[in-house]
Amino acid sequence: NYYAILMAGGVGSRFWPVSKNDFPKQFHDMLGTGETLIQKTFSRLSKLIPAENIFILTNEKYNDLVLEQLPEITARQVVLEPAMRNTAPCILYASMKIQKENPDAMMIVAPSDHWIEDEDMFTANVNECFDACEKEDILVTLGIQPTFPNTGYGYIKFEKEGDSSIKKVAQFTEKPDYETAKKFLITKSYLWNAGIFIWSAKSIVAAFSKYQEEMTTLFEKGMSCYNTEEEKDFIDENYPKAENISIDYAILENAPNVYVLPVSFDWNDLGTWGSLHSKLDKDESENAVVNAKTILVDAKNNIIRTNPDKIVVVDGLSDYIIVDKDDVLVIYPKRKEQDIKKVRSAVKDAFGEH
Ligand code: GDD
Ligand code: MG
Repeated sequence: NYYAILMAGGVGSRFWPVSKNDFPKQFHDMLGTGETLIQKTFSRLSKLIPAENIFILTNEKYNDLVLEQLPEITARQVVLEPAMRNTAPCILYASMKIQKENPDAMMIVAPSDHWIEDEDMFTANVNECFDACEKEDILVTLGIQPTFPNTGYGYIKFEKEGDSSIKKVAQFTEKPDYETAKKFLITKSYLWNAGIFIWSAKSIVAAFSKYQEEMTTLFEKGMSCYNTEEEKDFIDENYPKAENISIDYAILENAPNVYVLPVSFDWNDLGTWGSLHSKLDKDESENAVVNAKTILVDAKNNIIRTNPDKIVVVDGLSDYIIVDKDDVLVIYPKRKEQDIKKVRSAVKDAFGEH
């Protein structure tokens, strides 16, 4: 009865120029471990879910990458999106398919690009959520203890009372502004949304029919041709009509039956070069080097990633991102890492997509 949905359709634009439109970060070995992020996520989920019940949701552009990197996956398990519509439409469509296949399905929904240190603890936590979702019609997310006012996350206020370790969510706020995030942090009663969800197919489809009626009606028609030749035509014609909205805004901010399990494993969403730097092995001056051969003099706290045969000499530079990929070399201050998105657009405007 256990299924997983692995979301792998994002572009990872803050990891440009390594992460590109036609080859995004989840398909790269960002940590230099010999495995790509999607492979790491797949093997983490395989400890919980039979491989044939893990569905991959991605843009049709990445079909070959998925099949190449995850050879155990069959076409039945890949949902190919003809257009990017954020996470709500792909989650709903896949949940409907899974519910059709197995009306009692229990699901975990996970991003393809996270780093989790303690996989045993992760597995135990998710199993605890499965147990709760089997008993009750609830939508559960994993909550992380926040450490700074990050505006890129969802914030969860929960009701502390009760014996159960899974707590009722009082308020879910997706991506608050900086001032609000600061206030949330001071109260000490908020958690970050890890973006990993556990629920039954039945509960999530029911929540969508309540809070995203139009999207639900749109996709319901497709279920009559589910797993047939016509399904692809249905998706191509109808998927792009769905609203572009994330699951957080579409469901979690609205549904009354959202719960959270506060977790204590080390978690990182590997969203920026800086967050990656914190997870890589470093030299005594906190430089993290991936692939490059280096001579570093008076260089501190940099992240350096190039082609394996490149020799990089750095002197007198601290807190920089130095990334050399194909025909692009970026030397950029770490403190401006959020702006790499903008640099990527500027390069696109000036020189075309790189
Ligand atoms: N298939 C598919 N299609 N996947 C997508 C799409 C899409 O159109 N858009 C994004 N994804 C994938 C990304 O690849 C990523 O693995 C996951 O869905 C989440 O999308 P992000 O774009 O990375 O979301 P976010 O980081 O801004 O916010 C979410 O994650 C945070 C934690 O990392 C939210 O759930 C936040 O509340 C949460 O705190
Ligand atoms: Mg993310």
